[in-house]
Amino acid sequence: MKKIAVFTSGGDAPGMNACIRAVVRTAIYHGLEIYGIRRGYNGMINGDFIKMDSSSVSNTIQKGGTILKSARSQEFLTPEGRAKAAEQLKKFEIDGVVAIGGNGTFAGALKFYEEHGIPFIGAPGTIDNDLYGSDHTIGYDTAVNTALDAIDKIRDTADSHERVFFVEVMGRDSGYIAMPCAIGGGAEIVMIPETTTSIETVIDTLQNGWKRSKTSFIIIVAEGDEEGHATDIVKKVEKALPQMDARVTVIGHIQRGGSPTALDRLLASELGMACVEGLLNGKKNVMAGKVNAKIIYTPFEDTIHKKKLINPRFTRMVEILSV
Ligand code: F6P
Repeated sequence: MKKIAVFTSGGDAPGMNACIRAVVRTAIYHGLEIYGIRRGYNGMINGDFIKMDSSSVSNTIQKGGTILKSARSQEFLTPEGRAKAAEQLKKFEIDGVVAIGGNGTFAGALKFYEEHGIPFIGAPGTIDNDLYGSDHTIGYDTAVNTALDAIDKIRDTADSHERVFFVEVMGRDSGYIAMPCAIGGGAEIVMIPETTTSIETVIDTLQNGWKRSKTSFIIIVAEGDEEGHATDIVKKVEKALPQMDARVTVIGHIQRGGSPTALDRLLASELGMACVEGLLNGKKNVMAGKVNAKIIYTPFEDTIHKKKLINPRFTRMVEILSV
């Protein structure tokens, strides 16, 4: 293996730059040539490749976003798009690719390998933490801390005005951001896709709380909850409790930005290094992850199809600790 490439794909996540940096510098350390592919799979299709050296990643470890930019490519979902990407990788004589992204990125990589035989290895880069094969994903810790900071501020005004706040956090199919925000933010209720929290439960919890002289409430809603978005949920609850003084806050893309926490920088650096060393050791179609403090490699197939479960103890904790 002489030349490798690295790219970021899907939703950006704080720590992606620290991971790119680790990939670039580990590659150089092992005598490899390293290219950055800009704009995710779209850049691979369009030949948007840049040669990188050690200084390309100077002063980036602390920066949010991704210096290589990111995209969700529609064209790569087609065989024609993947064929164009293969042509470009061959033109640049790339022997292996490091993909930093989520399950959509890895599903694309797997399909690509079946058709074109160029080995990929992945690093889990998504704030959602929904990838099987790593306890945490790159960007998750920062996103949770960003959301928690917002929730602390919301709590101040909720308390002053004696209001009910429905706070929506990100997580398309996952409650991983919502759960620590609920426990760490002292919320009364958490609504996540992995479990069912009915509108009746929300109504009962509010009524019981008022009876016990609680005057303000924080309800954390993961955007993928089966009852809908926070704006839908508040309308359903208001029907039964017209006296409720409620507000909705959608934290949104703020969760995707900002300087990565120390934990994210460390994880990103470890996994970036593990990707390059994995490729050099002949690994392919696997994601480097950290489970129980050990670096492991999990087949893309499993990271895509296996579900990482949320500890059921956490749901109980939210209920008990807000009593
Ligand atoms: O996958 C990360 C994520 O932030 C999800 O939590 C969210 O549903 C989605 O990306 C939003 O994507 P976009 O930025 O394309 O709107």
